[in-house]
Amino acid sequence: MPVRSLGYIRIAAEDMDAWNRFAGEFLGLESVKGDHPEASYFRMDDHPHRLAILPAANNALDAIGFQVGSAEELAEMCRAVEETGTKVAALDQAACRDRRVSEAVAFDDPAGNRIELFWGVALAHNPVSTPKVSGFVTGDQGMGHVVLTVGDGPAAYAFYTRTLGFRPRNTLRMPAGPAADGTPQFETLWFLGCNPRHHTVGLLPMAGPGRMIHFMLETATLDDVGRAWDRAEKLEIPIMQTLGRHTNDRMVSFYVIGPGGFAVEYGYDGVRITEEEPVYEITEGEFWGHKFINFPTL
Ligand SMILES: [Fe+2]
Repeated sequence: MPVRSLGYIRIAAEDMDAWNRFAGEFLGLESVKGDHPEASYFRMDDHPHRLAILPAANNALDAIGFQVGSAEELAEMCRAVEETGTKVAALDQAACRDRRVSEAVAFDDPAGNRIELFWGVALAHNPVSTPKVSGFVTGDQGMGHVVLTVGDGPAAYAFYTRTLGFRPRNTLRMPAGPAADGTPQFETLWFLGCNPRHHTVGLLPMAGPGRMIHFMLETATLDDVGRAWDRAEKLEIPIMQTLGRHTNDRMVSFYVIGPGGFAVEYGYDGVRITEEEPVYEITEGEFWGHKFINFPTL
């Protein structure tokens, strides 16, 4: 069985105050207690937390956690990852308790992005409190999606599809500078899914070590997105891209630049995939909007 969904994101942060304000006041997540008193944990549904911010000397992605179905599925996937020559490390008891999961492992994807796989999340049964947001779309679609840079696109594509079981949903060709003879060249951005969410992972070929370009959270209503836009203005959070609608997942969203330079897409109305379609190419990223206003510096 493939990965089931995006479970959580852990970010190492220089400025905890900025993240607490960003995740609580802007994203509208519920701040909750966790094992590390200096870390911040944020809840958005019945998972104990989906976003963990860890104090650090440098801003960096700490880990992306993907949920798998069971201990058996985790063991099977570990074997598949090890077969690619990738080293897999089991997380110790304290690390699993911190994540509120029964078992987890960690490894680097071919671009060096740290991935964790887990099963057995300990659910919270009291209602989540997100008064700024009517609700987040999660459940079988998971926390949202991430877009990662990968130095070697084909290697990353092979790893995510063949080893982790993601399905290719669509491509977007990005200009990549002309060849020596002047012929225009392209890099392929892949959008990969593992559940009814159109894409859980985007792989953007780009030189250098792998990075998380953005993560996306989906809200229940258009008003949630509109109110977030107002909050961004009030809190003076830089807009990266204006409101727009994507051509692949049909998400109506805007992008902000969060603390540490990580971008966050805040959206609504993403399509729910009920039947697998042949892979297609999109020739524009959006039907309208998503105009760049600011660029992140990571
Ligand atoms: Fe996105």
